Amino acid sequence: MAIIGIMDSGVGGLSVFHEIRKLLPQEHYIYFADNAHCPYGEKTPEYIQDRLRRITNYFLWRGADAMVLACNTATAAAIETLRAEYPIPFIGMEPAVKPAALGTETGVIGILATAGTLKGSKYLTTKGRFEGEVRIEERVGNGFVELVENGELSGPHAEQVVRASLAPLLDEGADRIVLGCTHYPFLLDTLRKVAAEDGHPDARFIDPAPAVARRLADVMAENGIPAGKSEPGVEYLASGSADNLLRMSLIS
Ligand code: DGL
Repeated sequence: MAIIGIMDSGVGGLSVFHEIRKLLPQEHYIYFADNAHCPYGEKTPEYIQDRLRRITNYFLWRGADAMVLACNTATAAAIETLRAEYPIPFIGMEPAVKPAALGTETGVIGILATAGTLKGSKYLTTKGRFEGEVRIEERVGNGFVELVENGELSGPHAEQVVRASLAPLLDEGADRIVLGCTHYPFLLDTLRKVAAEDGHPDARFIDPAPAVARRLADVMAENGIPAGKSEPGVEYLASGSADNLLRMSLIS
């Protein structure tokens, strides 16, 4: 049995975990929501690195064979540090700029992410690669993480919050919107509704989660981590309240 640690600042990483379990149903997973410290989006890289060291130490103590940072902000702030300091493989989130750039018909793509992700060197490098080919518009999804952490995925207030960040991207002509934060896929119905109501029914939203699941499978194979030898299992842990985590784990 492989033991895989998965972390996020809250419930957002469940959108990634859903894809991982579809692809690799036979492993033992420990999902850790660091929701006592959520949101990560406005925290300093040092703060996030400190949180990630504590979480990684816990996963190692539990015998984890690999760890997934199911959080774009944590990946941007800490994955290089963790790779330098710990012996297990770390899989992080990739901003899905490439599929958006390949798919756009208007030549404009939109990125929705946290401030921390948009400042990260990984995103900036990826952006630099595609900037000549397409125009890239960015917005922080202000308030999106809080909506999802509160379990408020739809309704007039959620639409108002979503519209404030999405409308400027659509107005700029973006027809492919990258969901650069793992919380945002939980707002997909609301994002689609707002886009359609605002005259952009053809806008497409791109979630990198399936690609991250495939990457985990590849990394396990490359590192000789034995898959599926024993009973599958899932543990959910939270540094704060577990209420929303348990609720969301049932619908994701
Ligand atoms: N789900 C996270 C991400 O992918 C974290 C968001 C936050 O805590 O601000 O960026």
